[in-house]
Amino acid sequence: MPAISILTIDGPSGTGKGTLMQLLAEQLGWHTLDSGALYRVLGLAATRQGLELDAAEALTLLAAALPLAFNAGRVLLSDEDVSDAIRTEEAGMAASRVAAHPCVRSALLDWQRQFARAPGLVADGRDMGTVVFPHAQLKIFLDASPEIRAERRYKQLKEKGLNANLPQLIADIRERDARDRSRPVAPLCPADDAVCVDSTQMSRAEVLDCVLEEVRRVF
Ligand code: C5P
Repeated sequence: MPAISILTIDGPSGTGKGTLMQLLAEQLGWHTLDSGALYRVLGLAATRQGLELDAAEALTLLAAALPLAFNAGRVLLSDEDVSDAIRTEEAGMAASRVAAHPCVRSALLDWQRQFARAPGLVADGRDMGTVVFPHAQLKIFLDASPEIRAERRYKQLKEKGLNANLPQLIADIRERDARDRSRPVAPLCPADDAVCVDSTQMSRAEVLDCVLEEVRRVF
């Protein structure tokens, strides 16, 4: 068995991949990679610089030198803490647009692969098991219906005292899914050897149990 264990969690937005990644990493004592944050920070930086989100070449240059760092659970752009700024619906939409450019994705590949460190890595995203870590020993594809994902997001926003509109959230999720699933490079889809988990009817604890069972089977 290779020295570094890699567990990938892919799936559409709002399925609870991020929470699952954190819980698994805590239990296993492994590192994490939140690849969505990478695209979100890129979208934010591009918007702030006034770049068009379809300007592939300029975005690729920006991606190659993106001053992004993860520190104690916070996301830093240069030295600014942008952890909250990147979690808005607009930032998610911008991330999905910049992520659609093949040259942007290539520019970020090595950076993501450097997160593979002993004893192990839990990586969350859309193409972790298909493109970034095709040799991962365990690949999970976590899905749920758009309606239930929008409802979960609605509750999160309300709990934070933020404005939320459920029909709009459902429409946004469908639009982002469609873009992520239909792009020509690294489209959102399960790897051939992924274990697919549909969390529509499952609690967070049930999802964790189910994935831990797979972890015990593989590692
Ligand atoms: O996972 P999260 O919602 O933070 O991702 C934001 C967007 O970044 C996604 O909608 C997707 O377009 C893009 N993304 C991607 N590949 C990844 C992670 C995220 O294309 N590995």
